[in-house]
This record gives sequence, C-alpha cells and structure tokens, in this order.
Amino acid sequence: MAQRPRHVDPRLRVALVTGACSGIGRAFAERLASFGFELILVSNRAAPLATAAREIVGAHGVRVHQLVSDLSRPEAAAELHEGIGKRGVAVDVLVNNAGTFFFGEVVDTDPGRARAMLELHVVTPSLLTAAFGRDMRERGYGHILIVSSISAWRDFPGIAHYGASKRYLRGFASALRSELGVYGVKVTCLAPGPTATSLFGASDATRELAKRLGIMVEPATVADAGLLAMFAGRAEHIPGILAHLMAWGAAWTPQWVVDLIRRRAPWLPVRGGVR
Ligand SMILES: NC(=O)c1ccc[n+]([C@@H]2O[C@H](COP(=O)([O-])OP(=O)(O)OC[C@H]3O[C@@H](n4cnc5c(N)ncnc54)[C@H](OP(=O)(O)O)[C@@H]3O)[C@@H](O)[C@H]2O)c1
Repeated sequence: MAQRPRHVDPRLRVALVTGACSGIGRAFAERLASFGFELILVSNRAAPLATAAREIVGAHGVRVHQLVSDLSRPEAAAELHEGIGKRGVAVDVLVNNAGTFFFGEVVDTDPGRARAMLELHVVTPSLLTAAFGRDMRERGYGHILIVSSISAWRDFPGIAHYGASKRYLRGFASALRSELGVYGVKVTCLAPGPTATSLFGASDATRELAKRLGIMVEPATVADAGLLAMFAGRAEHIPGILAHLMAWGAAWTPQWVVDLIRRRAPWLPVRGGVR
C-alpha cells in the first residue's frame, strides 16, 4: 500500500467515485485504494465495474462496494444516497467524475441525448453533492472533488452541451466551496485537458500517438494531480502546462476567431454547403 500523504486528514476513511470503472475515475479509485480508503465505486455497467472492483481489491486489499446506477436518471442521486445510508457507510470523500461526450450542433442533437448529458453532468452531481455535503457538514469534515474540464473556459460551437455543463460545474464548485468551507468541508474543482481515455471514442493507436506527441496525458497523471489538489484543499486545479495553455488560450481567443472556426470547420454543416 502506498504511503498516505501526511497532509491527508486521518479521519478520512471512505471515498465514493462516480464513473469509476474506466479512465480518470478508475485512476482515482486506484490511487485512493493505495492510500487505504474503503471505496464505493459507482458506474452504469455491472460487468466492467465488477472487474475494476475485483482488480482493486486484489491489488490493494481494501473494502470495495459496487453500486450500479445510471446517473443520467433524475432519481439517481437520491437513490444512491439512500442506498449507501442503508449500508451504514459514511462518505468522507466524494469524487464527482462520471461524464460523457458527444459532438454536434444543438439543433441537431437528439433531445434524449442532450437530457442525459445534462442530468449526468449537472443535475446528478449537484444533488449528490448536496446530499453527501450535508452529511459532511454535520460531521465537520470531508472533501468534495468536482471534475469539470478546460472546456469551461470558453464556449465552443459543436460542444455546447458539454462545455456549458462543465462551466456550470466550475461555477457550482466555486460557490459551494464558500458555503461548505465555513463548516470544515473542502470543495475542489479539477479541470483536465485532453486525457488518454475512451471519452472521445478515439482508437488505442490514436491515443498512443497523442500521448507520444504530448497532446494527451495519462489518466493516472490527471487523477493524481486532482487528488493532490483536493487533499491540499485547493479551490481549482488544471493539471499540466499544456492544459493551462489551452484553457487560457481559449479564454483569450477573440470571438471572431471562434466564429471563423465555426464557418470553416468541415465537420460542422453549413446551409447549402457554402462556407
Ligand atoms: N478525457 C478527457 O480528455 C477529459 C478532459 C476533461 C474532462 N474530462 C472529464 O473527466 C471525467 C471522466 O472522463 P474520462 O475521460 O475518464 O472518460 P471515460 O473513460 O469515458 O469515463 C467516464 C466514466 O463515466 C461513466 N459514465 C458515463 N455515463 C454514465 C452514466 N449514465 N451513469 C453512470 N456512469 C456513467 C462511464 O461508465 P461506463 O464506461 O460504464 O459508461 C465511465 O466510467 C468526465 O467527467 C469528463 O468530462 C475528461
């Protein structure tokens, strides 16, 4: 078992990670287990979740609870909070990580797909955070990590639902941090840049190439940086120099450049095919 960093409050025993069977969420779970945390892993697919849980128990020997839940359902947060309460487990660290991605114009997006993303990125993390944050406030300690994205720094055509929902999470985390901070509960927002996971549907070969070129980073690098920032009680963290440059570059790009990209982008439609 890895040594728990000295600044991690020894009262913290149990961590809940959403979207824990792959990508950055799996890396969060691995690292927390290596620090000796009892884990509650949540994901919407039973088989990959069971595999992740089995491998984590095998590697770290910690107790792992598995909860299969589609977090894009309106009732998901309340169900989860109630289910965990019935098990008599108190959540000390909440990692709101589950997410999804699609590309396309707002008016072309299937309403069900848009709704599912907004529930998953906005409604469920807000309600989960409220429910577990209330418990943490009563105990007077706890950490909440909210995974946003560098997409929160600029609104881009083609990813309106994704970017706006990540912007919501960033603002929500900031306000919540002020609210809960006075009770001893710390809230941190993590804003990753391009990370080598299956989020964008890229092939293994593409991800490998992107990693070699330094465009994408390993999920473990992002998760480690996020946990370090969270346990240090930081408000917000963008992991890596490239992600920083991308966030600030996006924020300072003039709107006319964004509009030009929209008109010229071959992957977005234009009326009559004329650009
Ligand atoms: N990868 C990047 O470049 C990047 C950049 C910035 C921010 N992020 C954010 O980082 C977070 C993790 O993404 P990732 O890159 O690690 O992608 P990922 O490997 O696809 O992981 C996403 C996780 O969320 C789970 N999930 C998706 N829909 C769900 C639902 N309806 N209910 C419950 N769980 C659900 C997935 O479970 P299943 O696999 O079972 O569906 C998966 O475990 C996301 O919030 C994403 O927006 C990623």
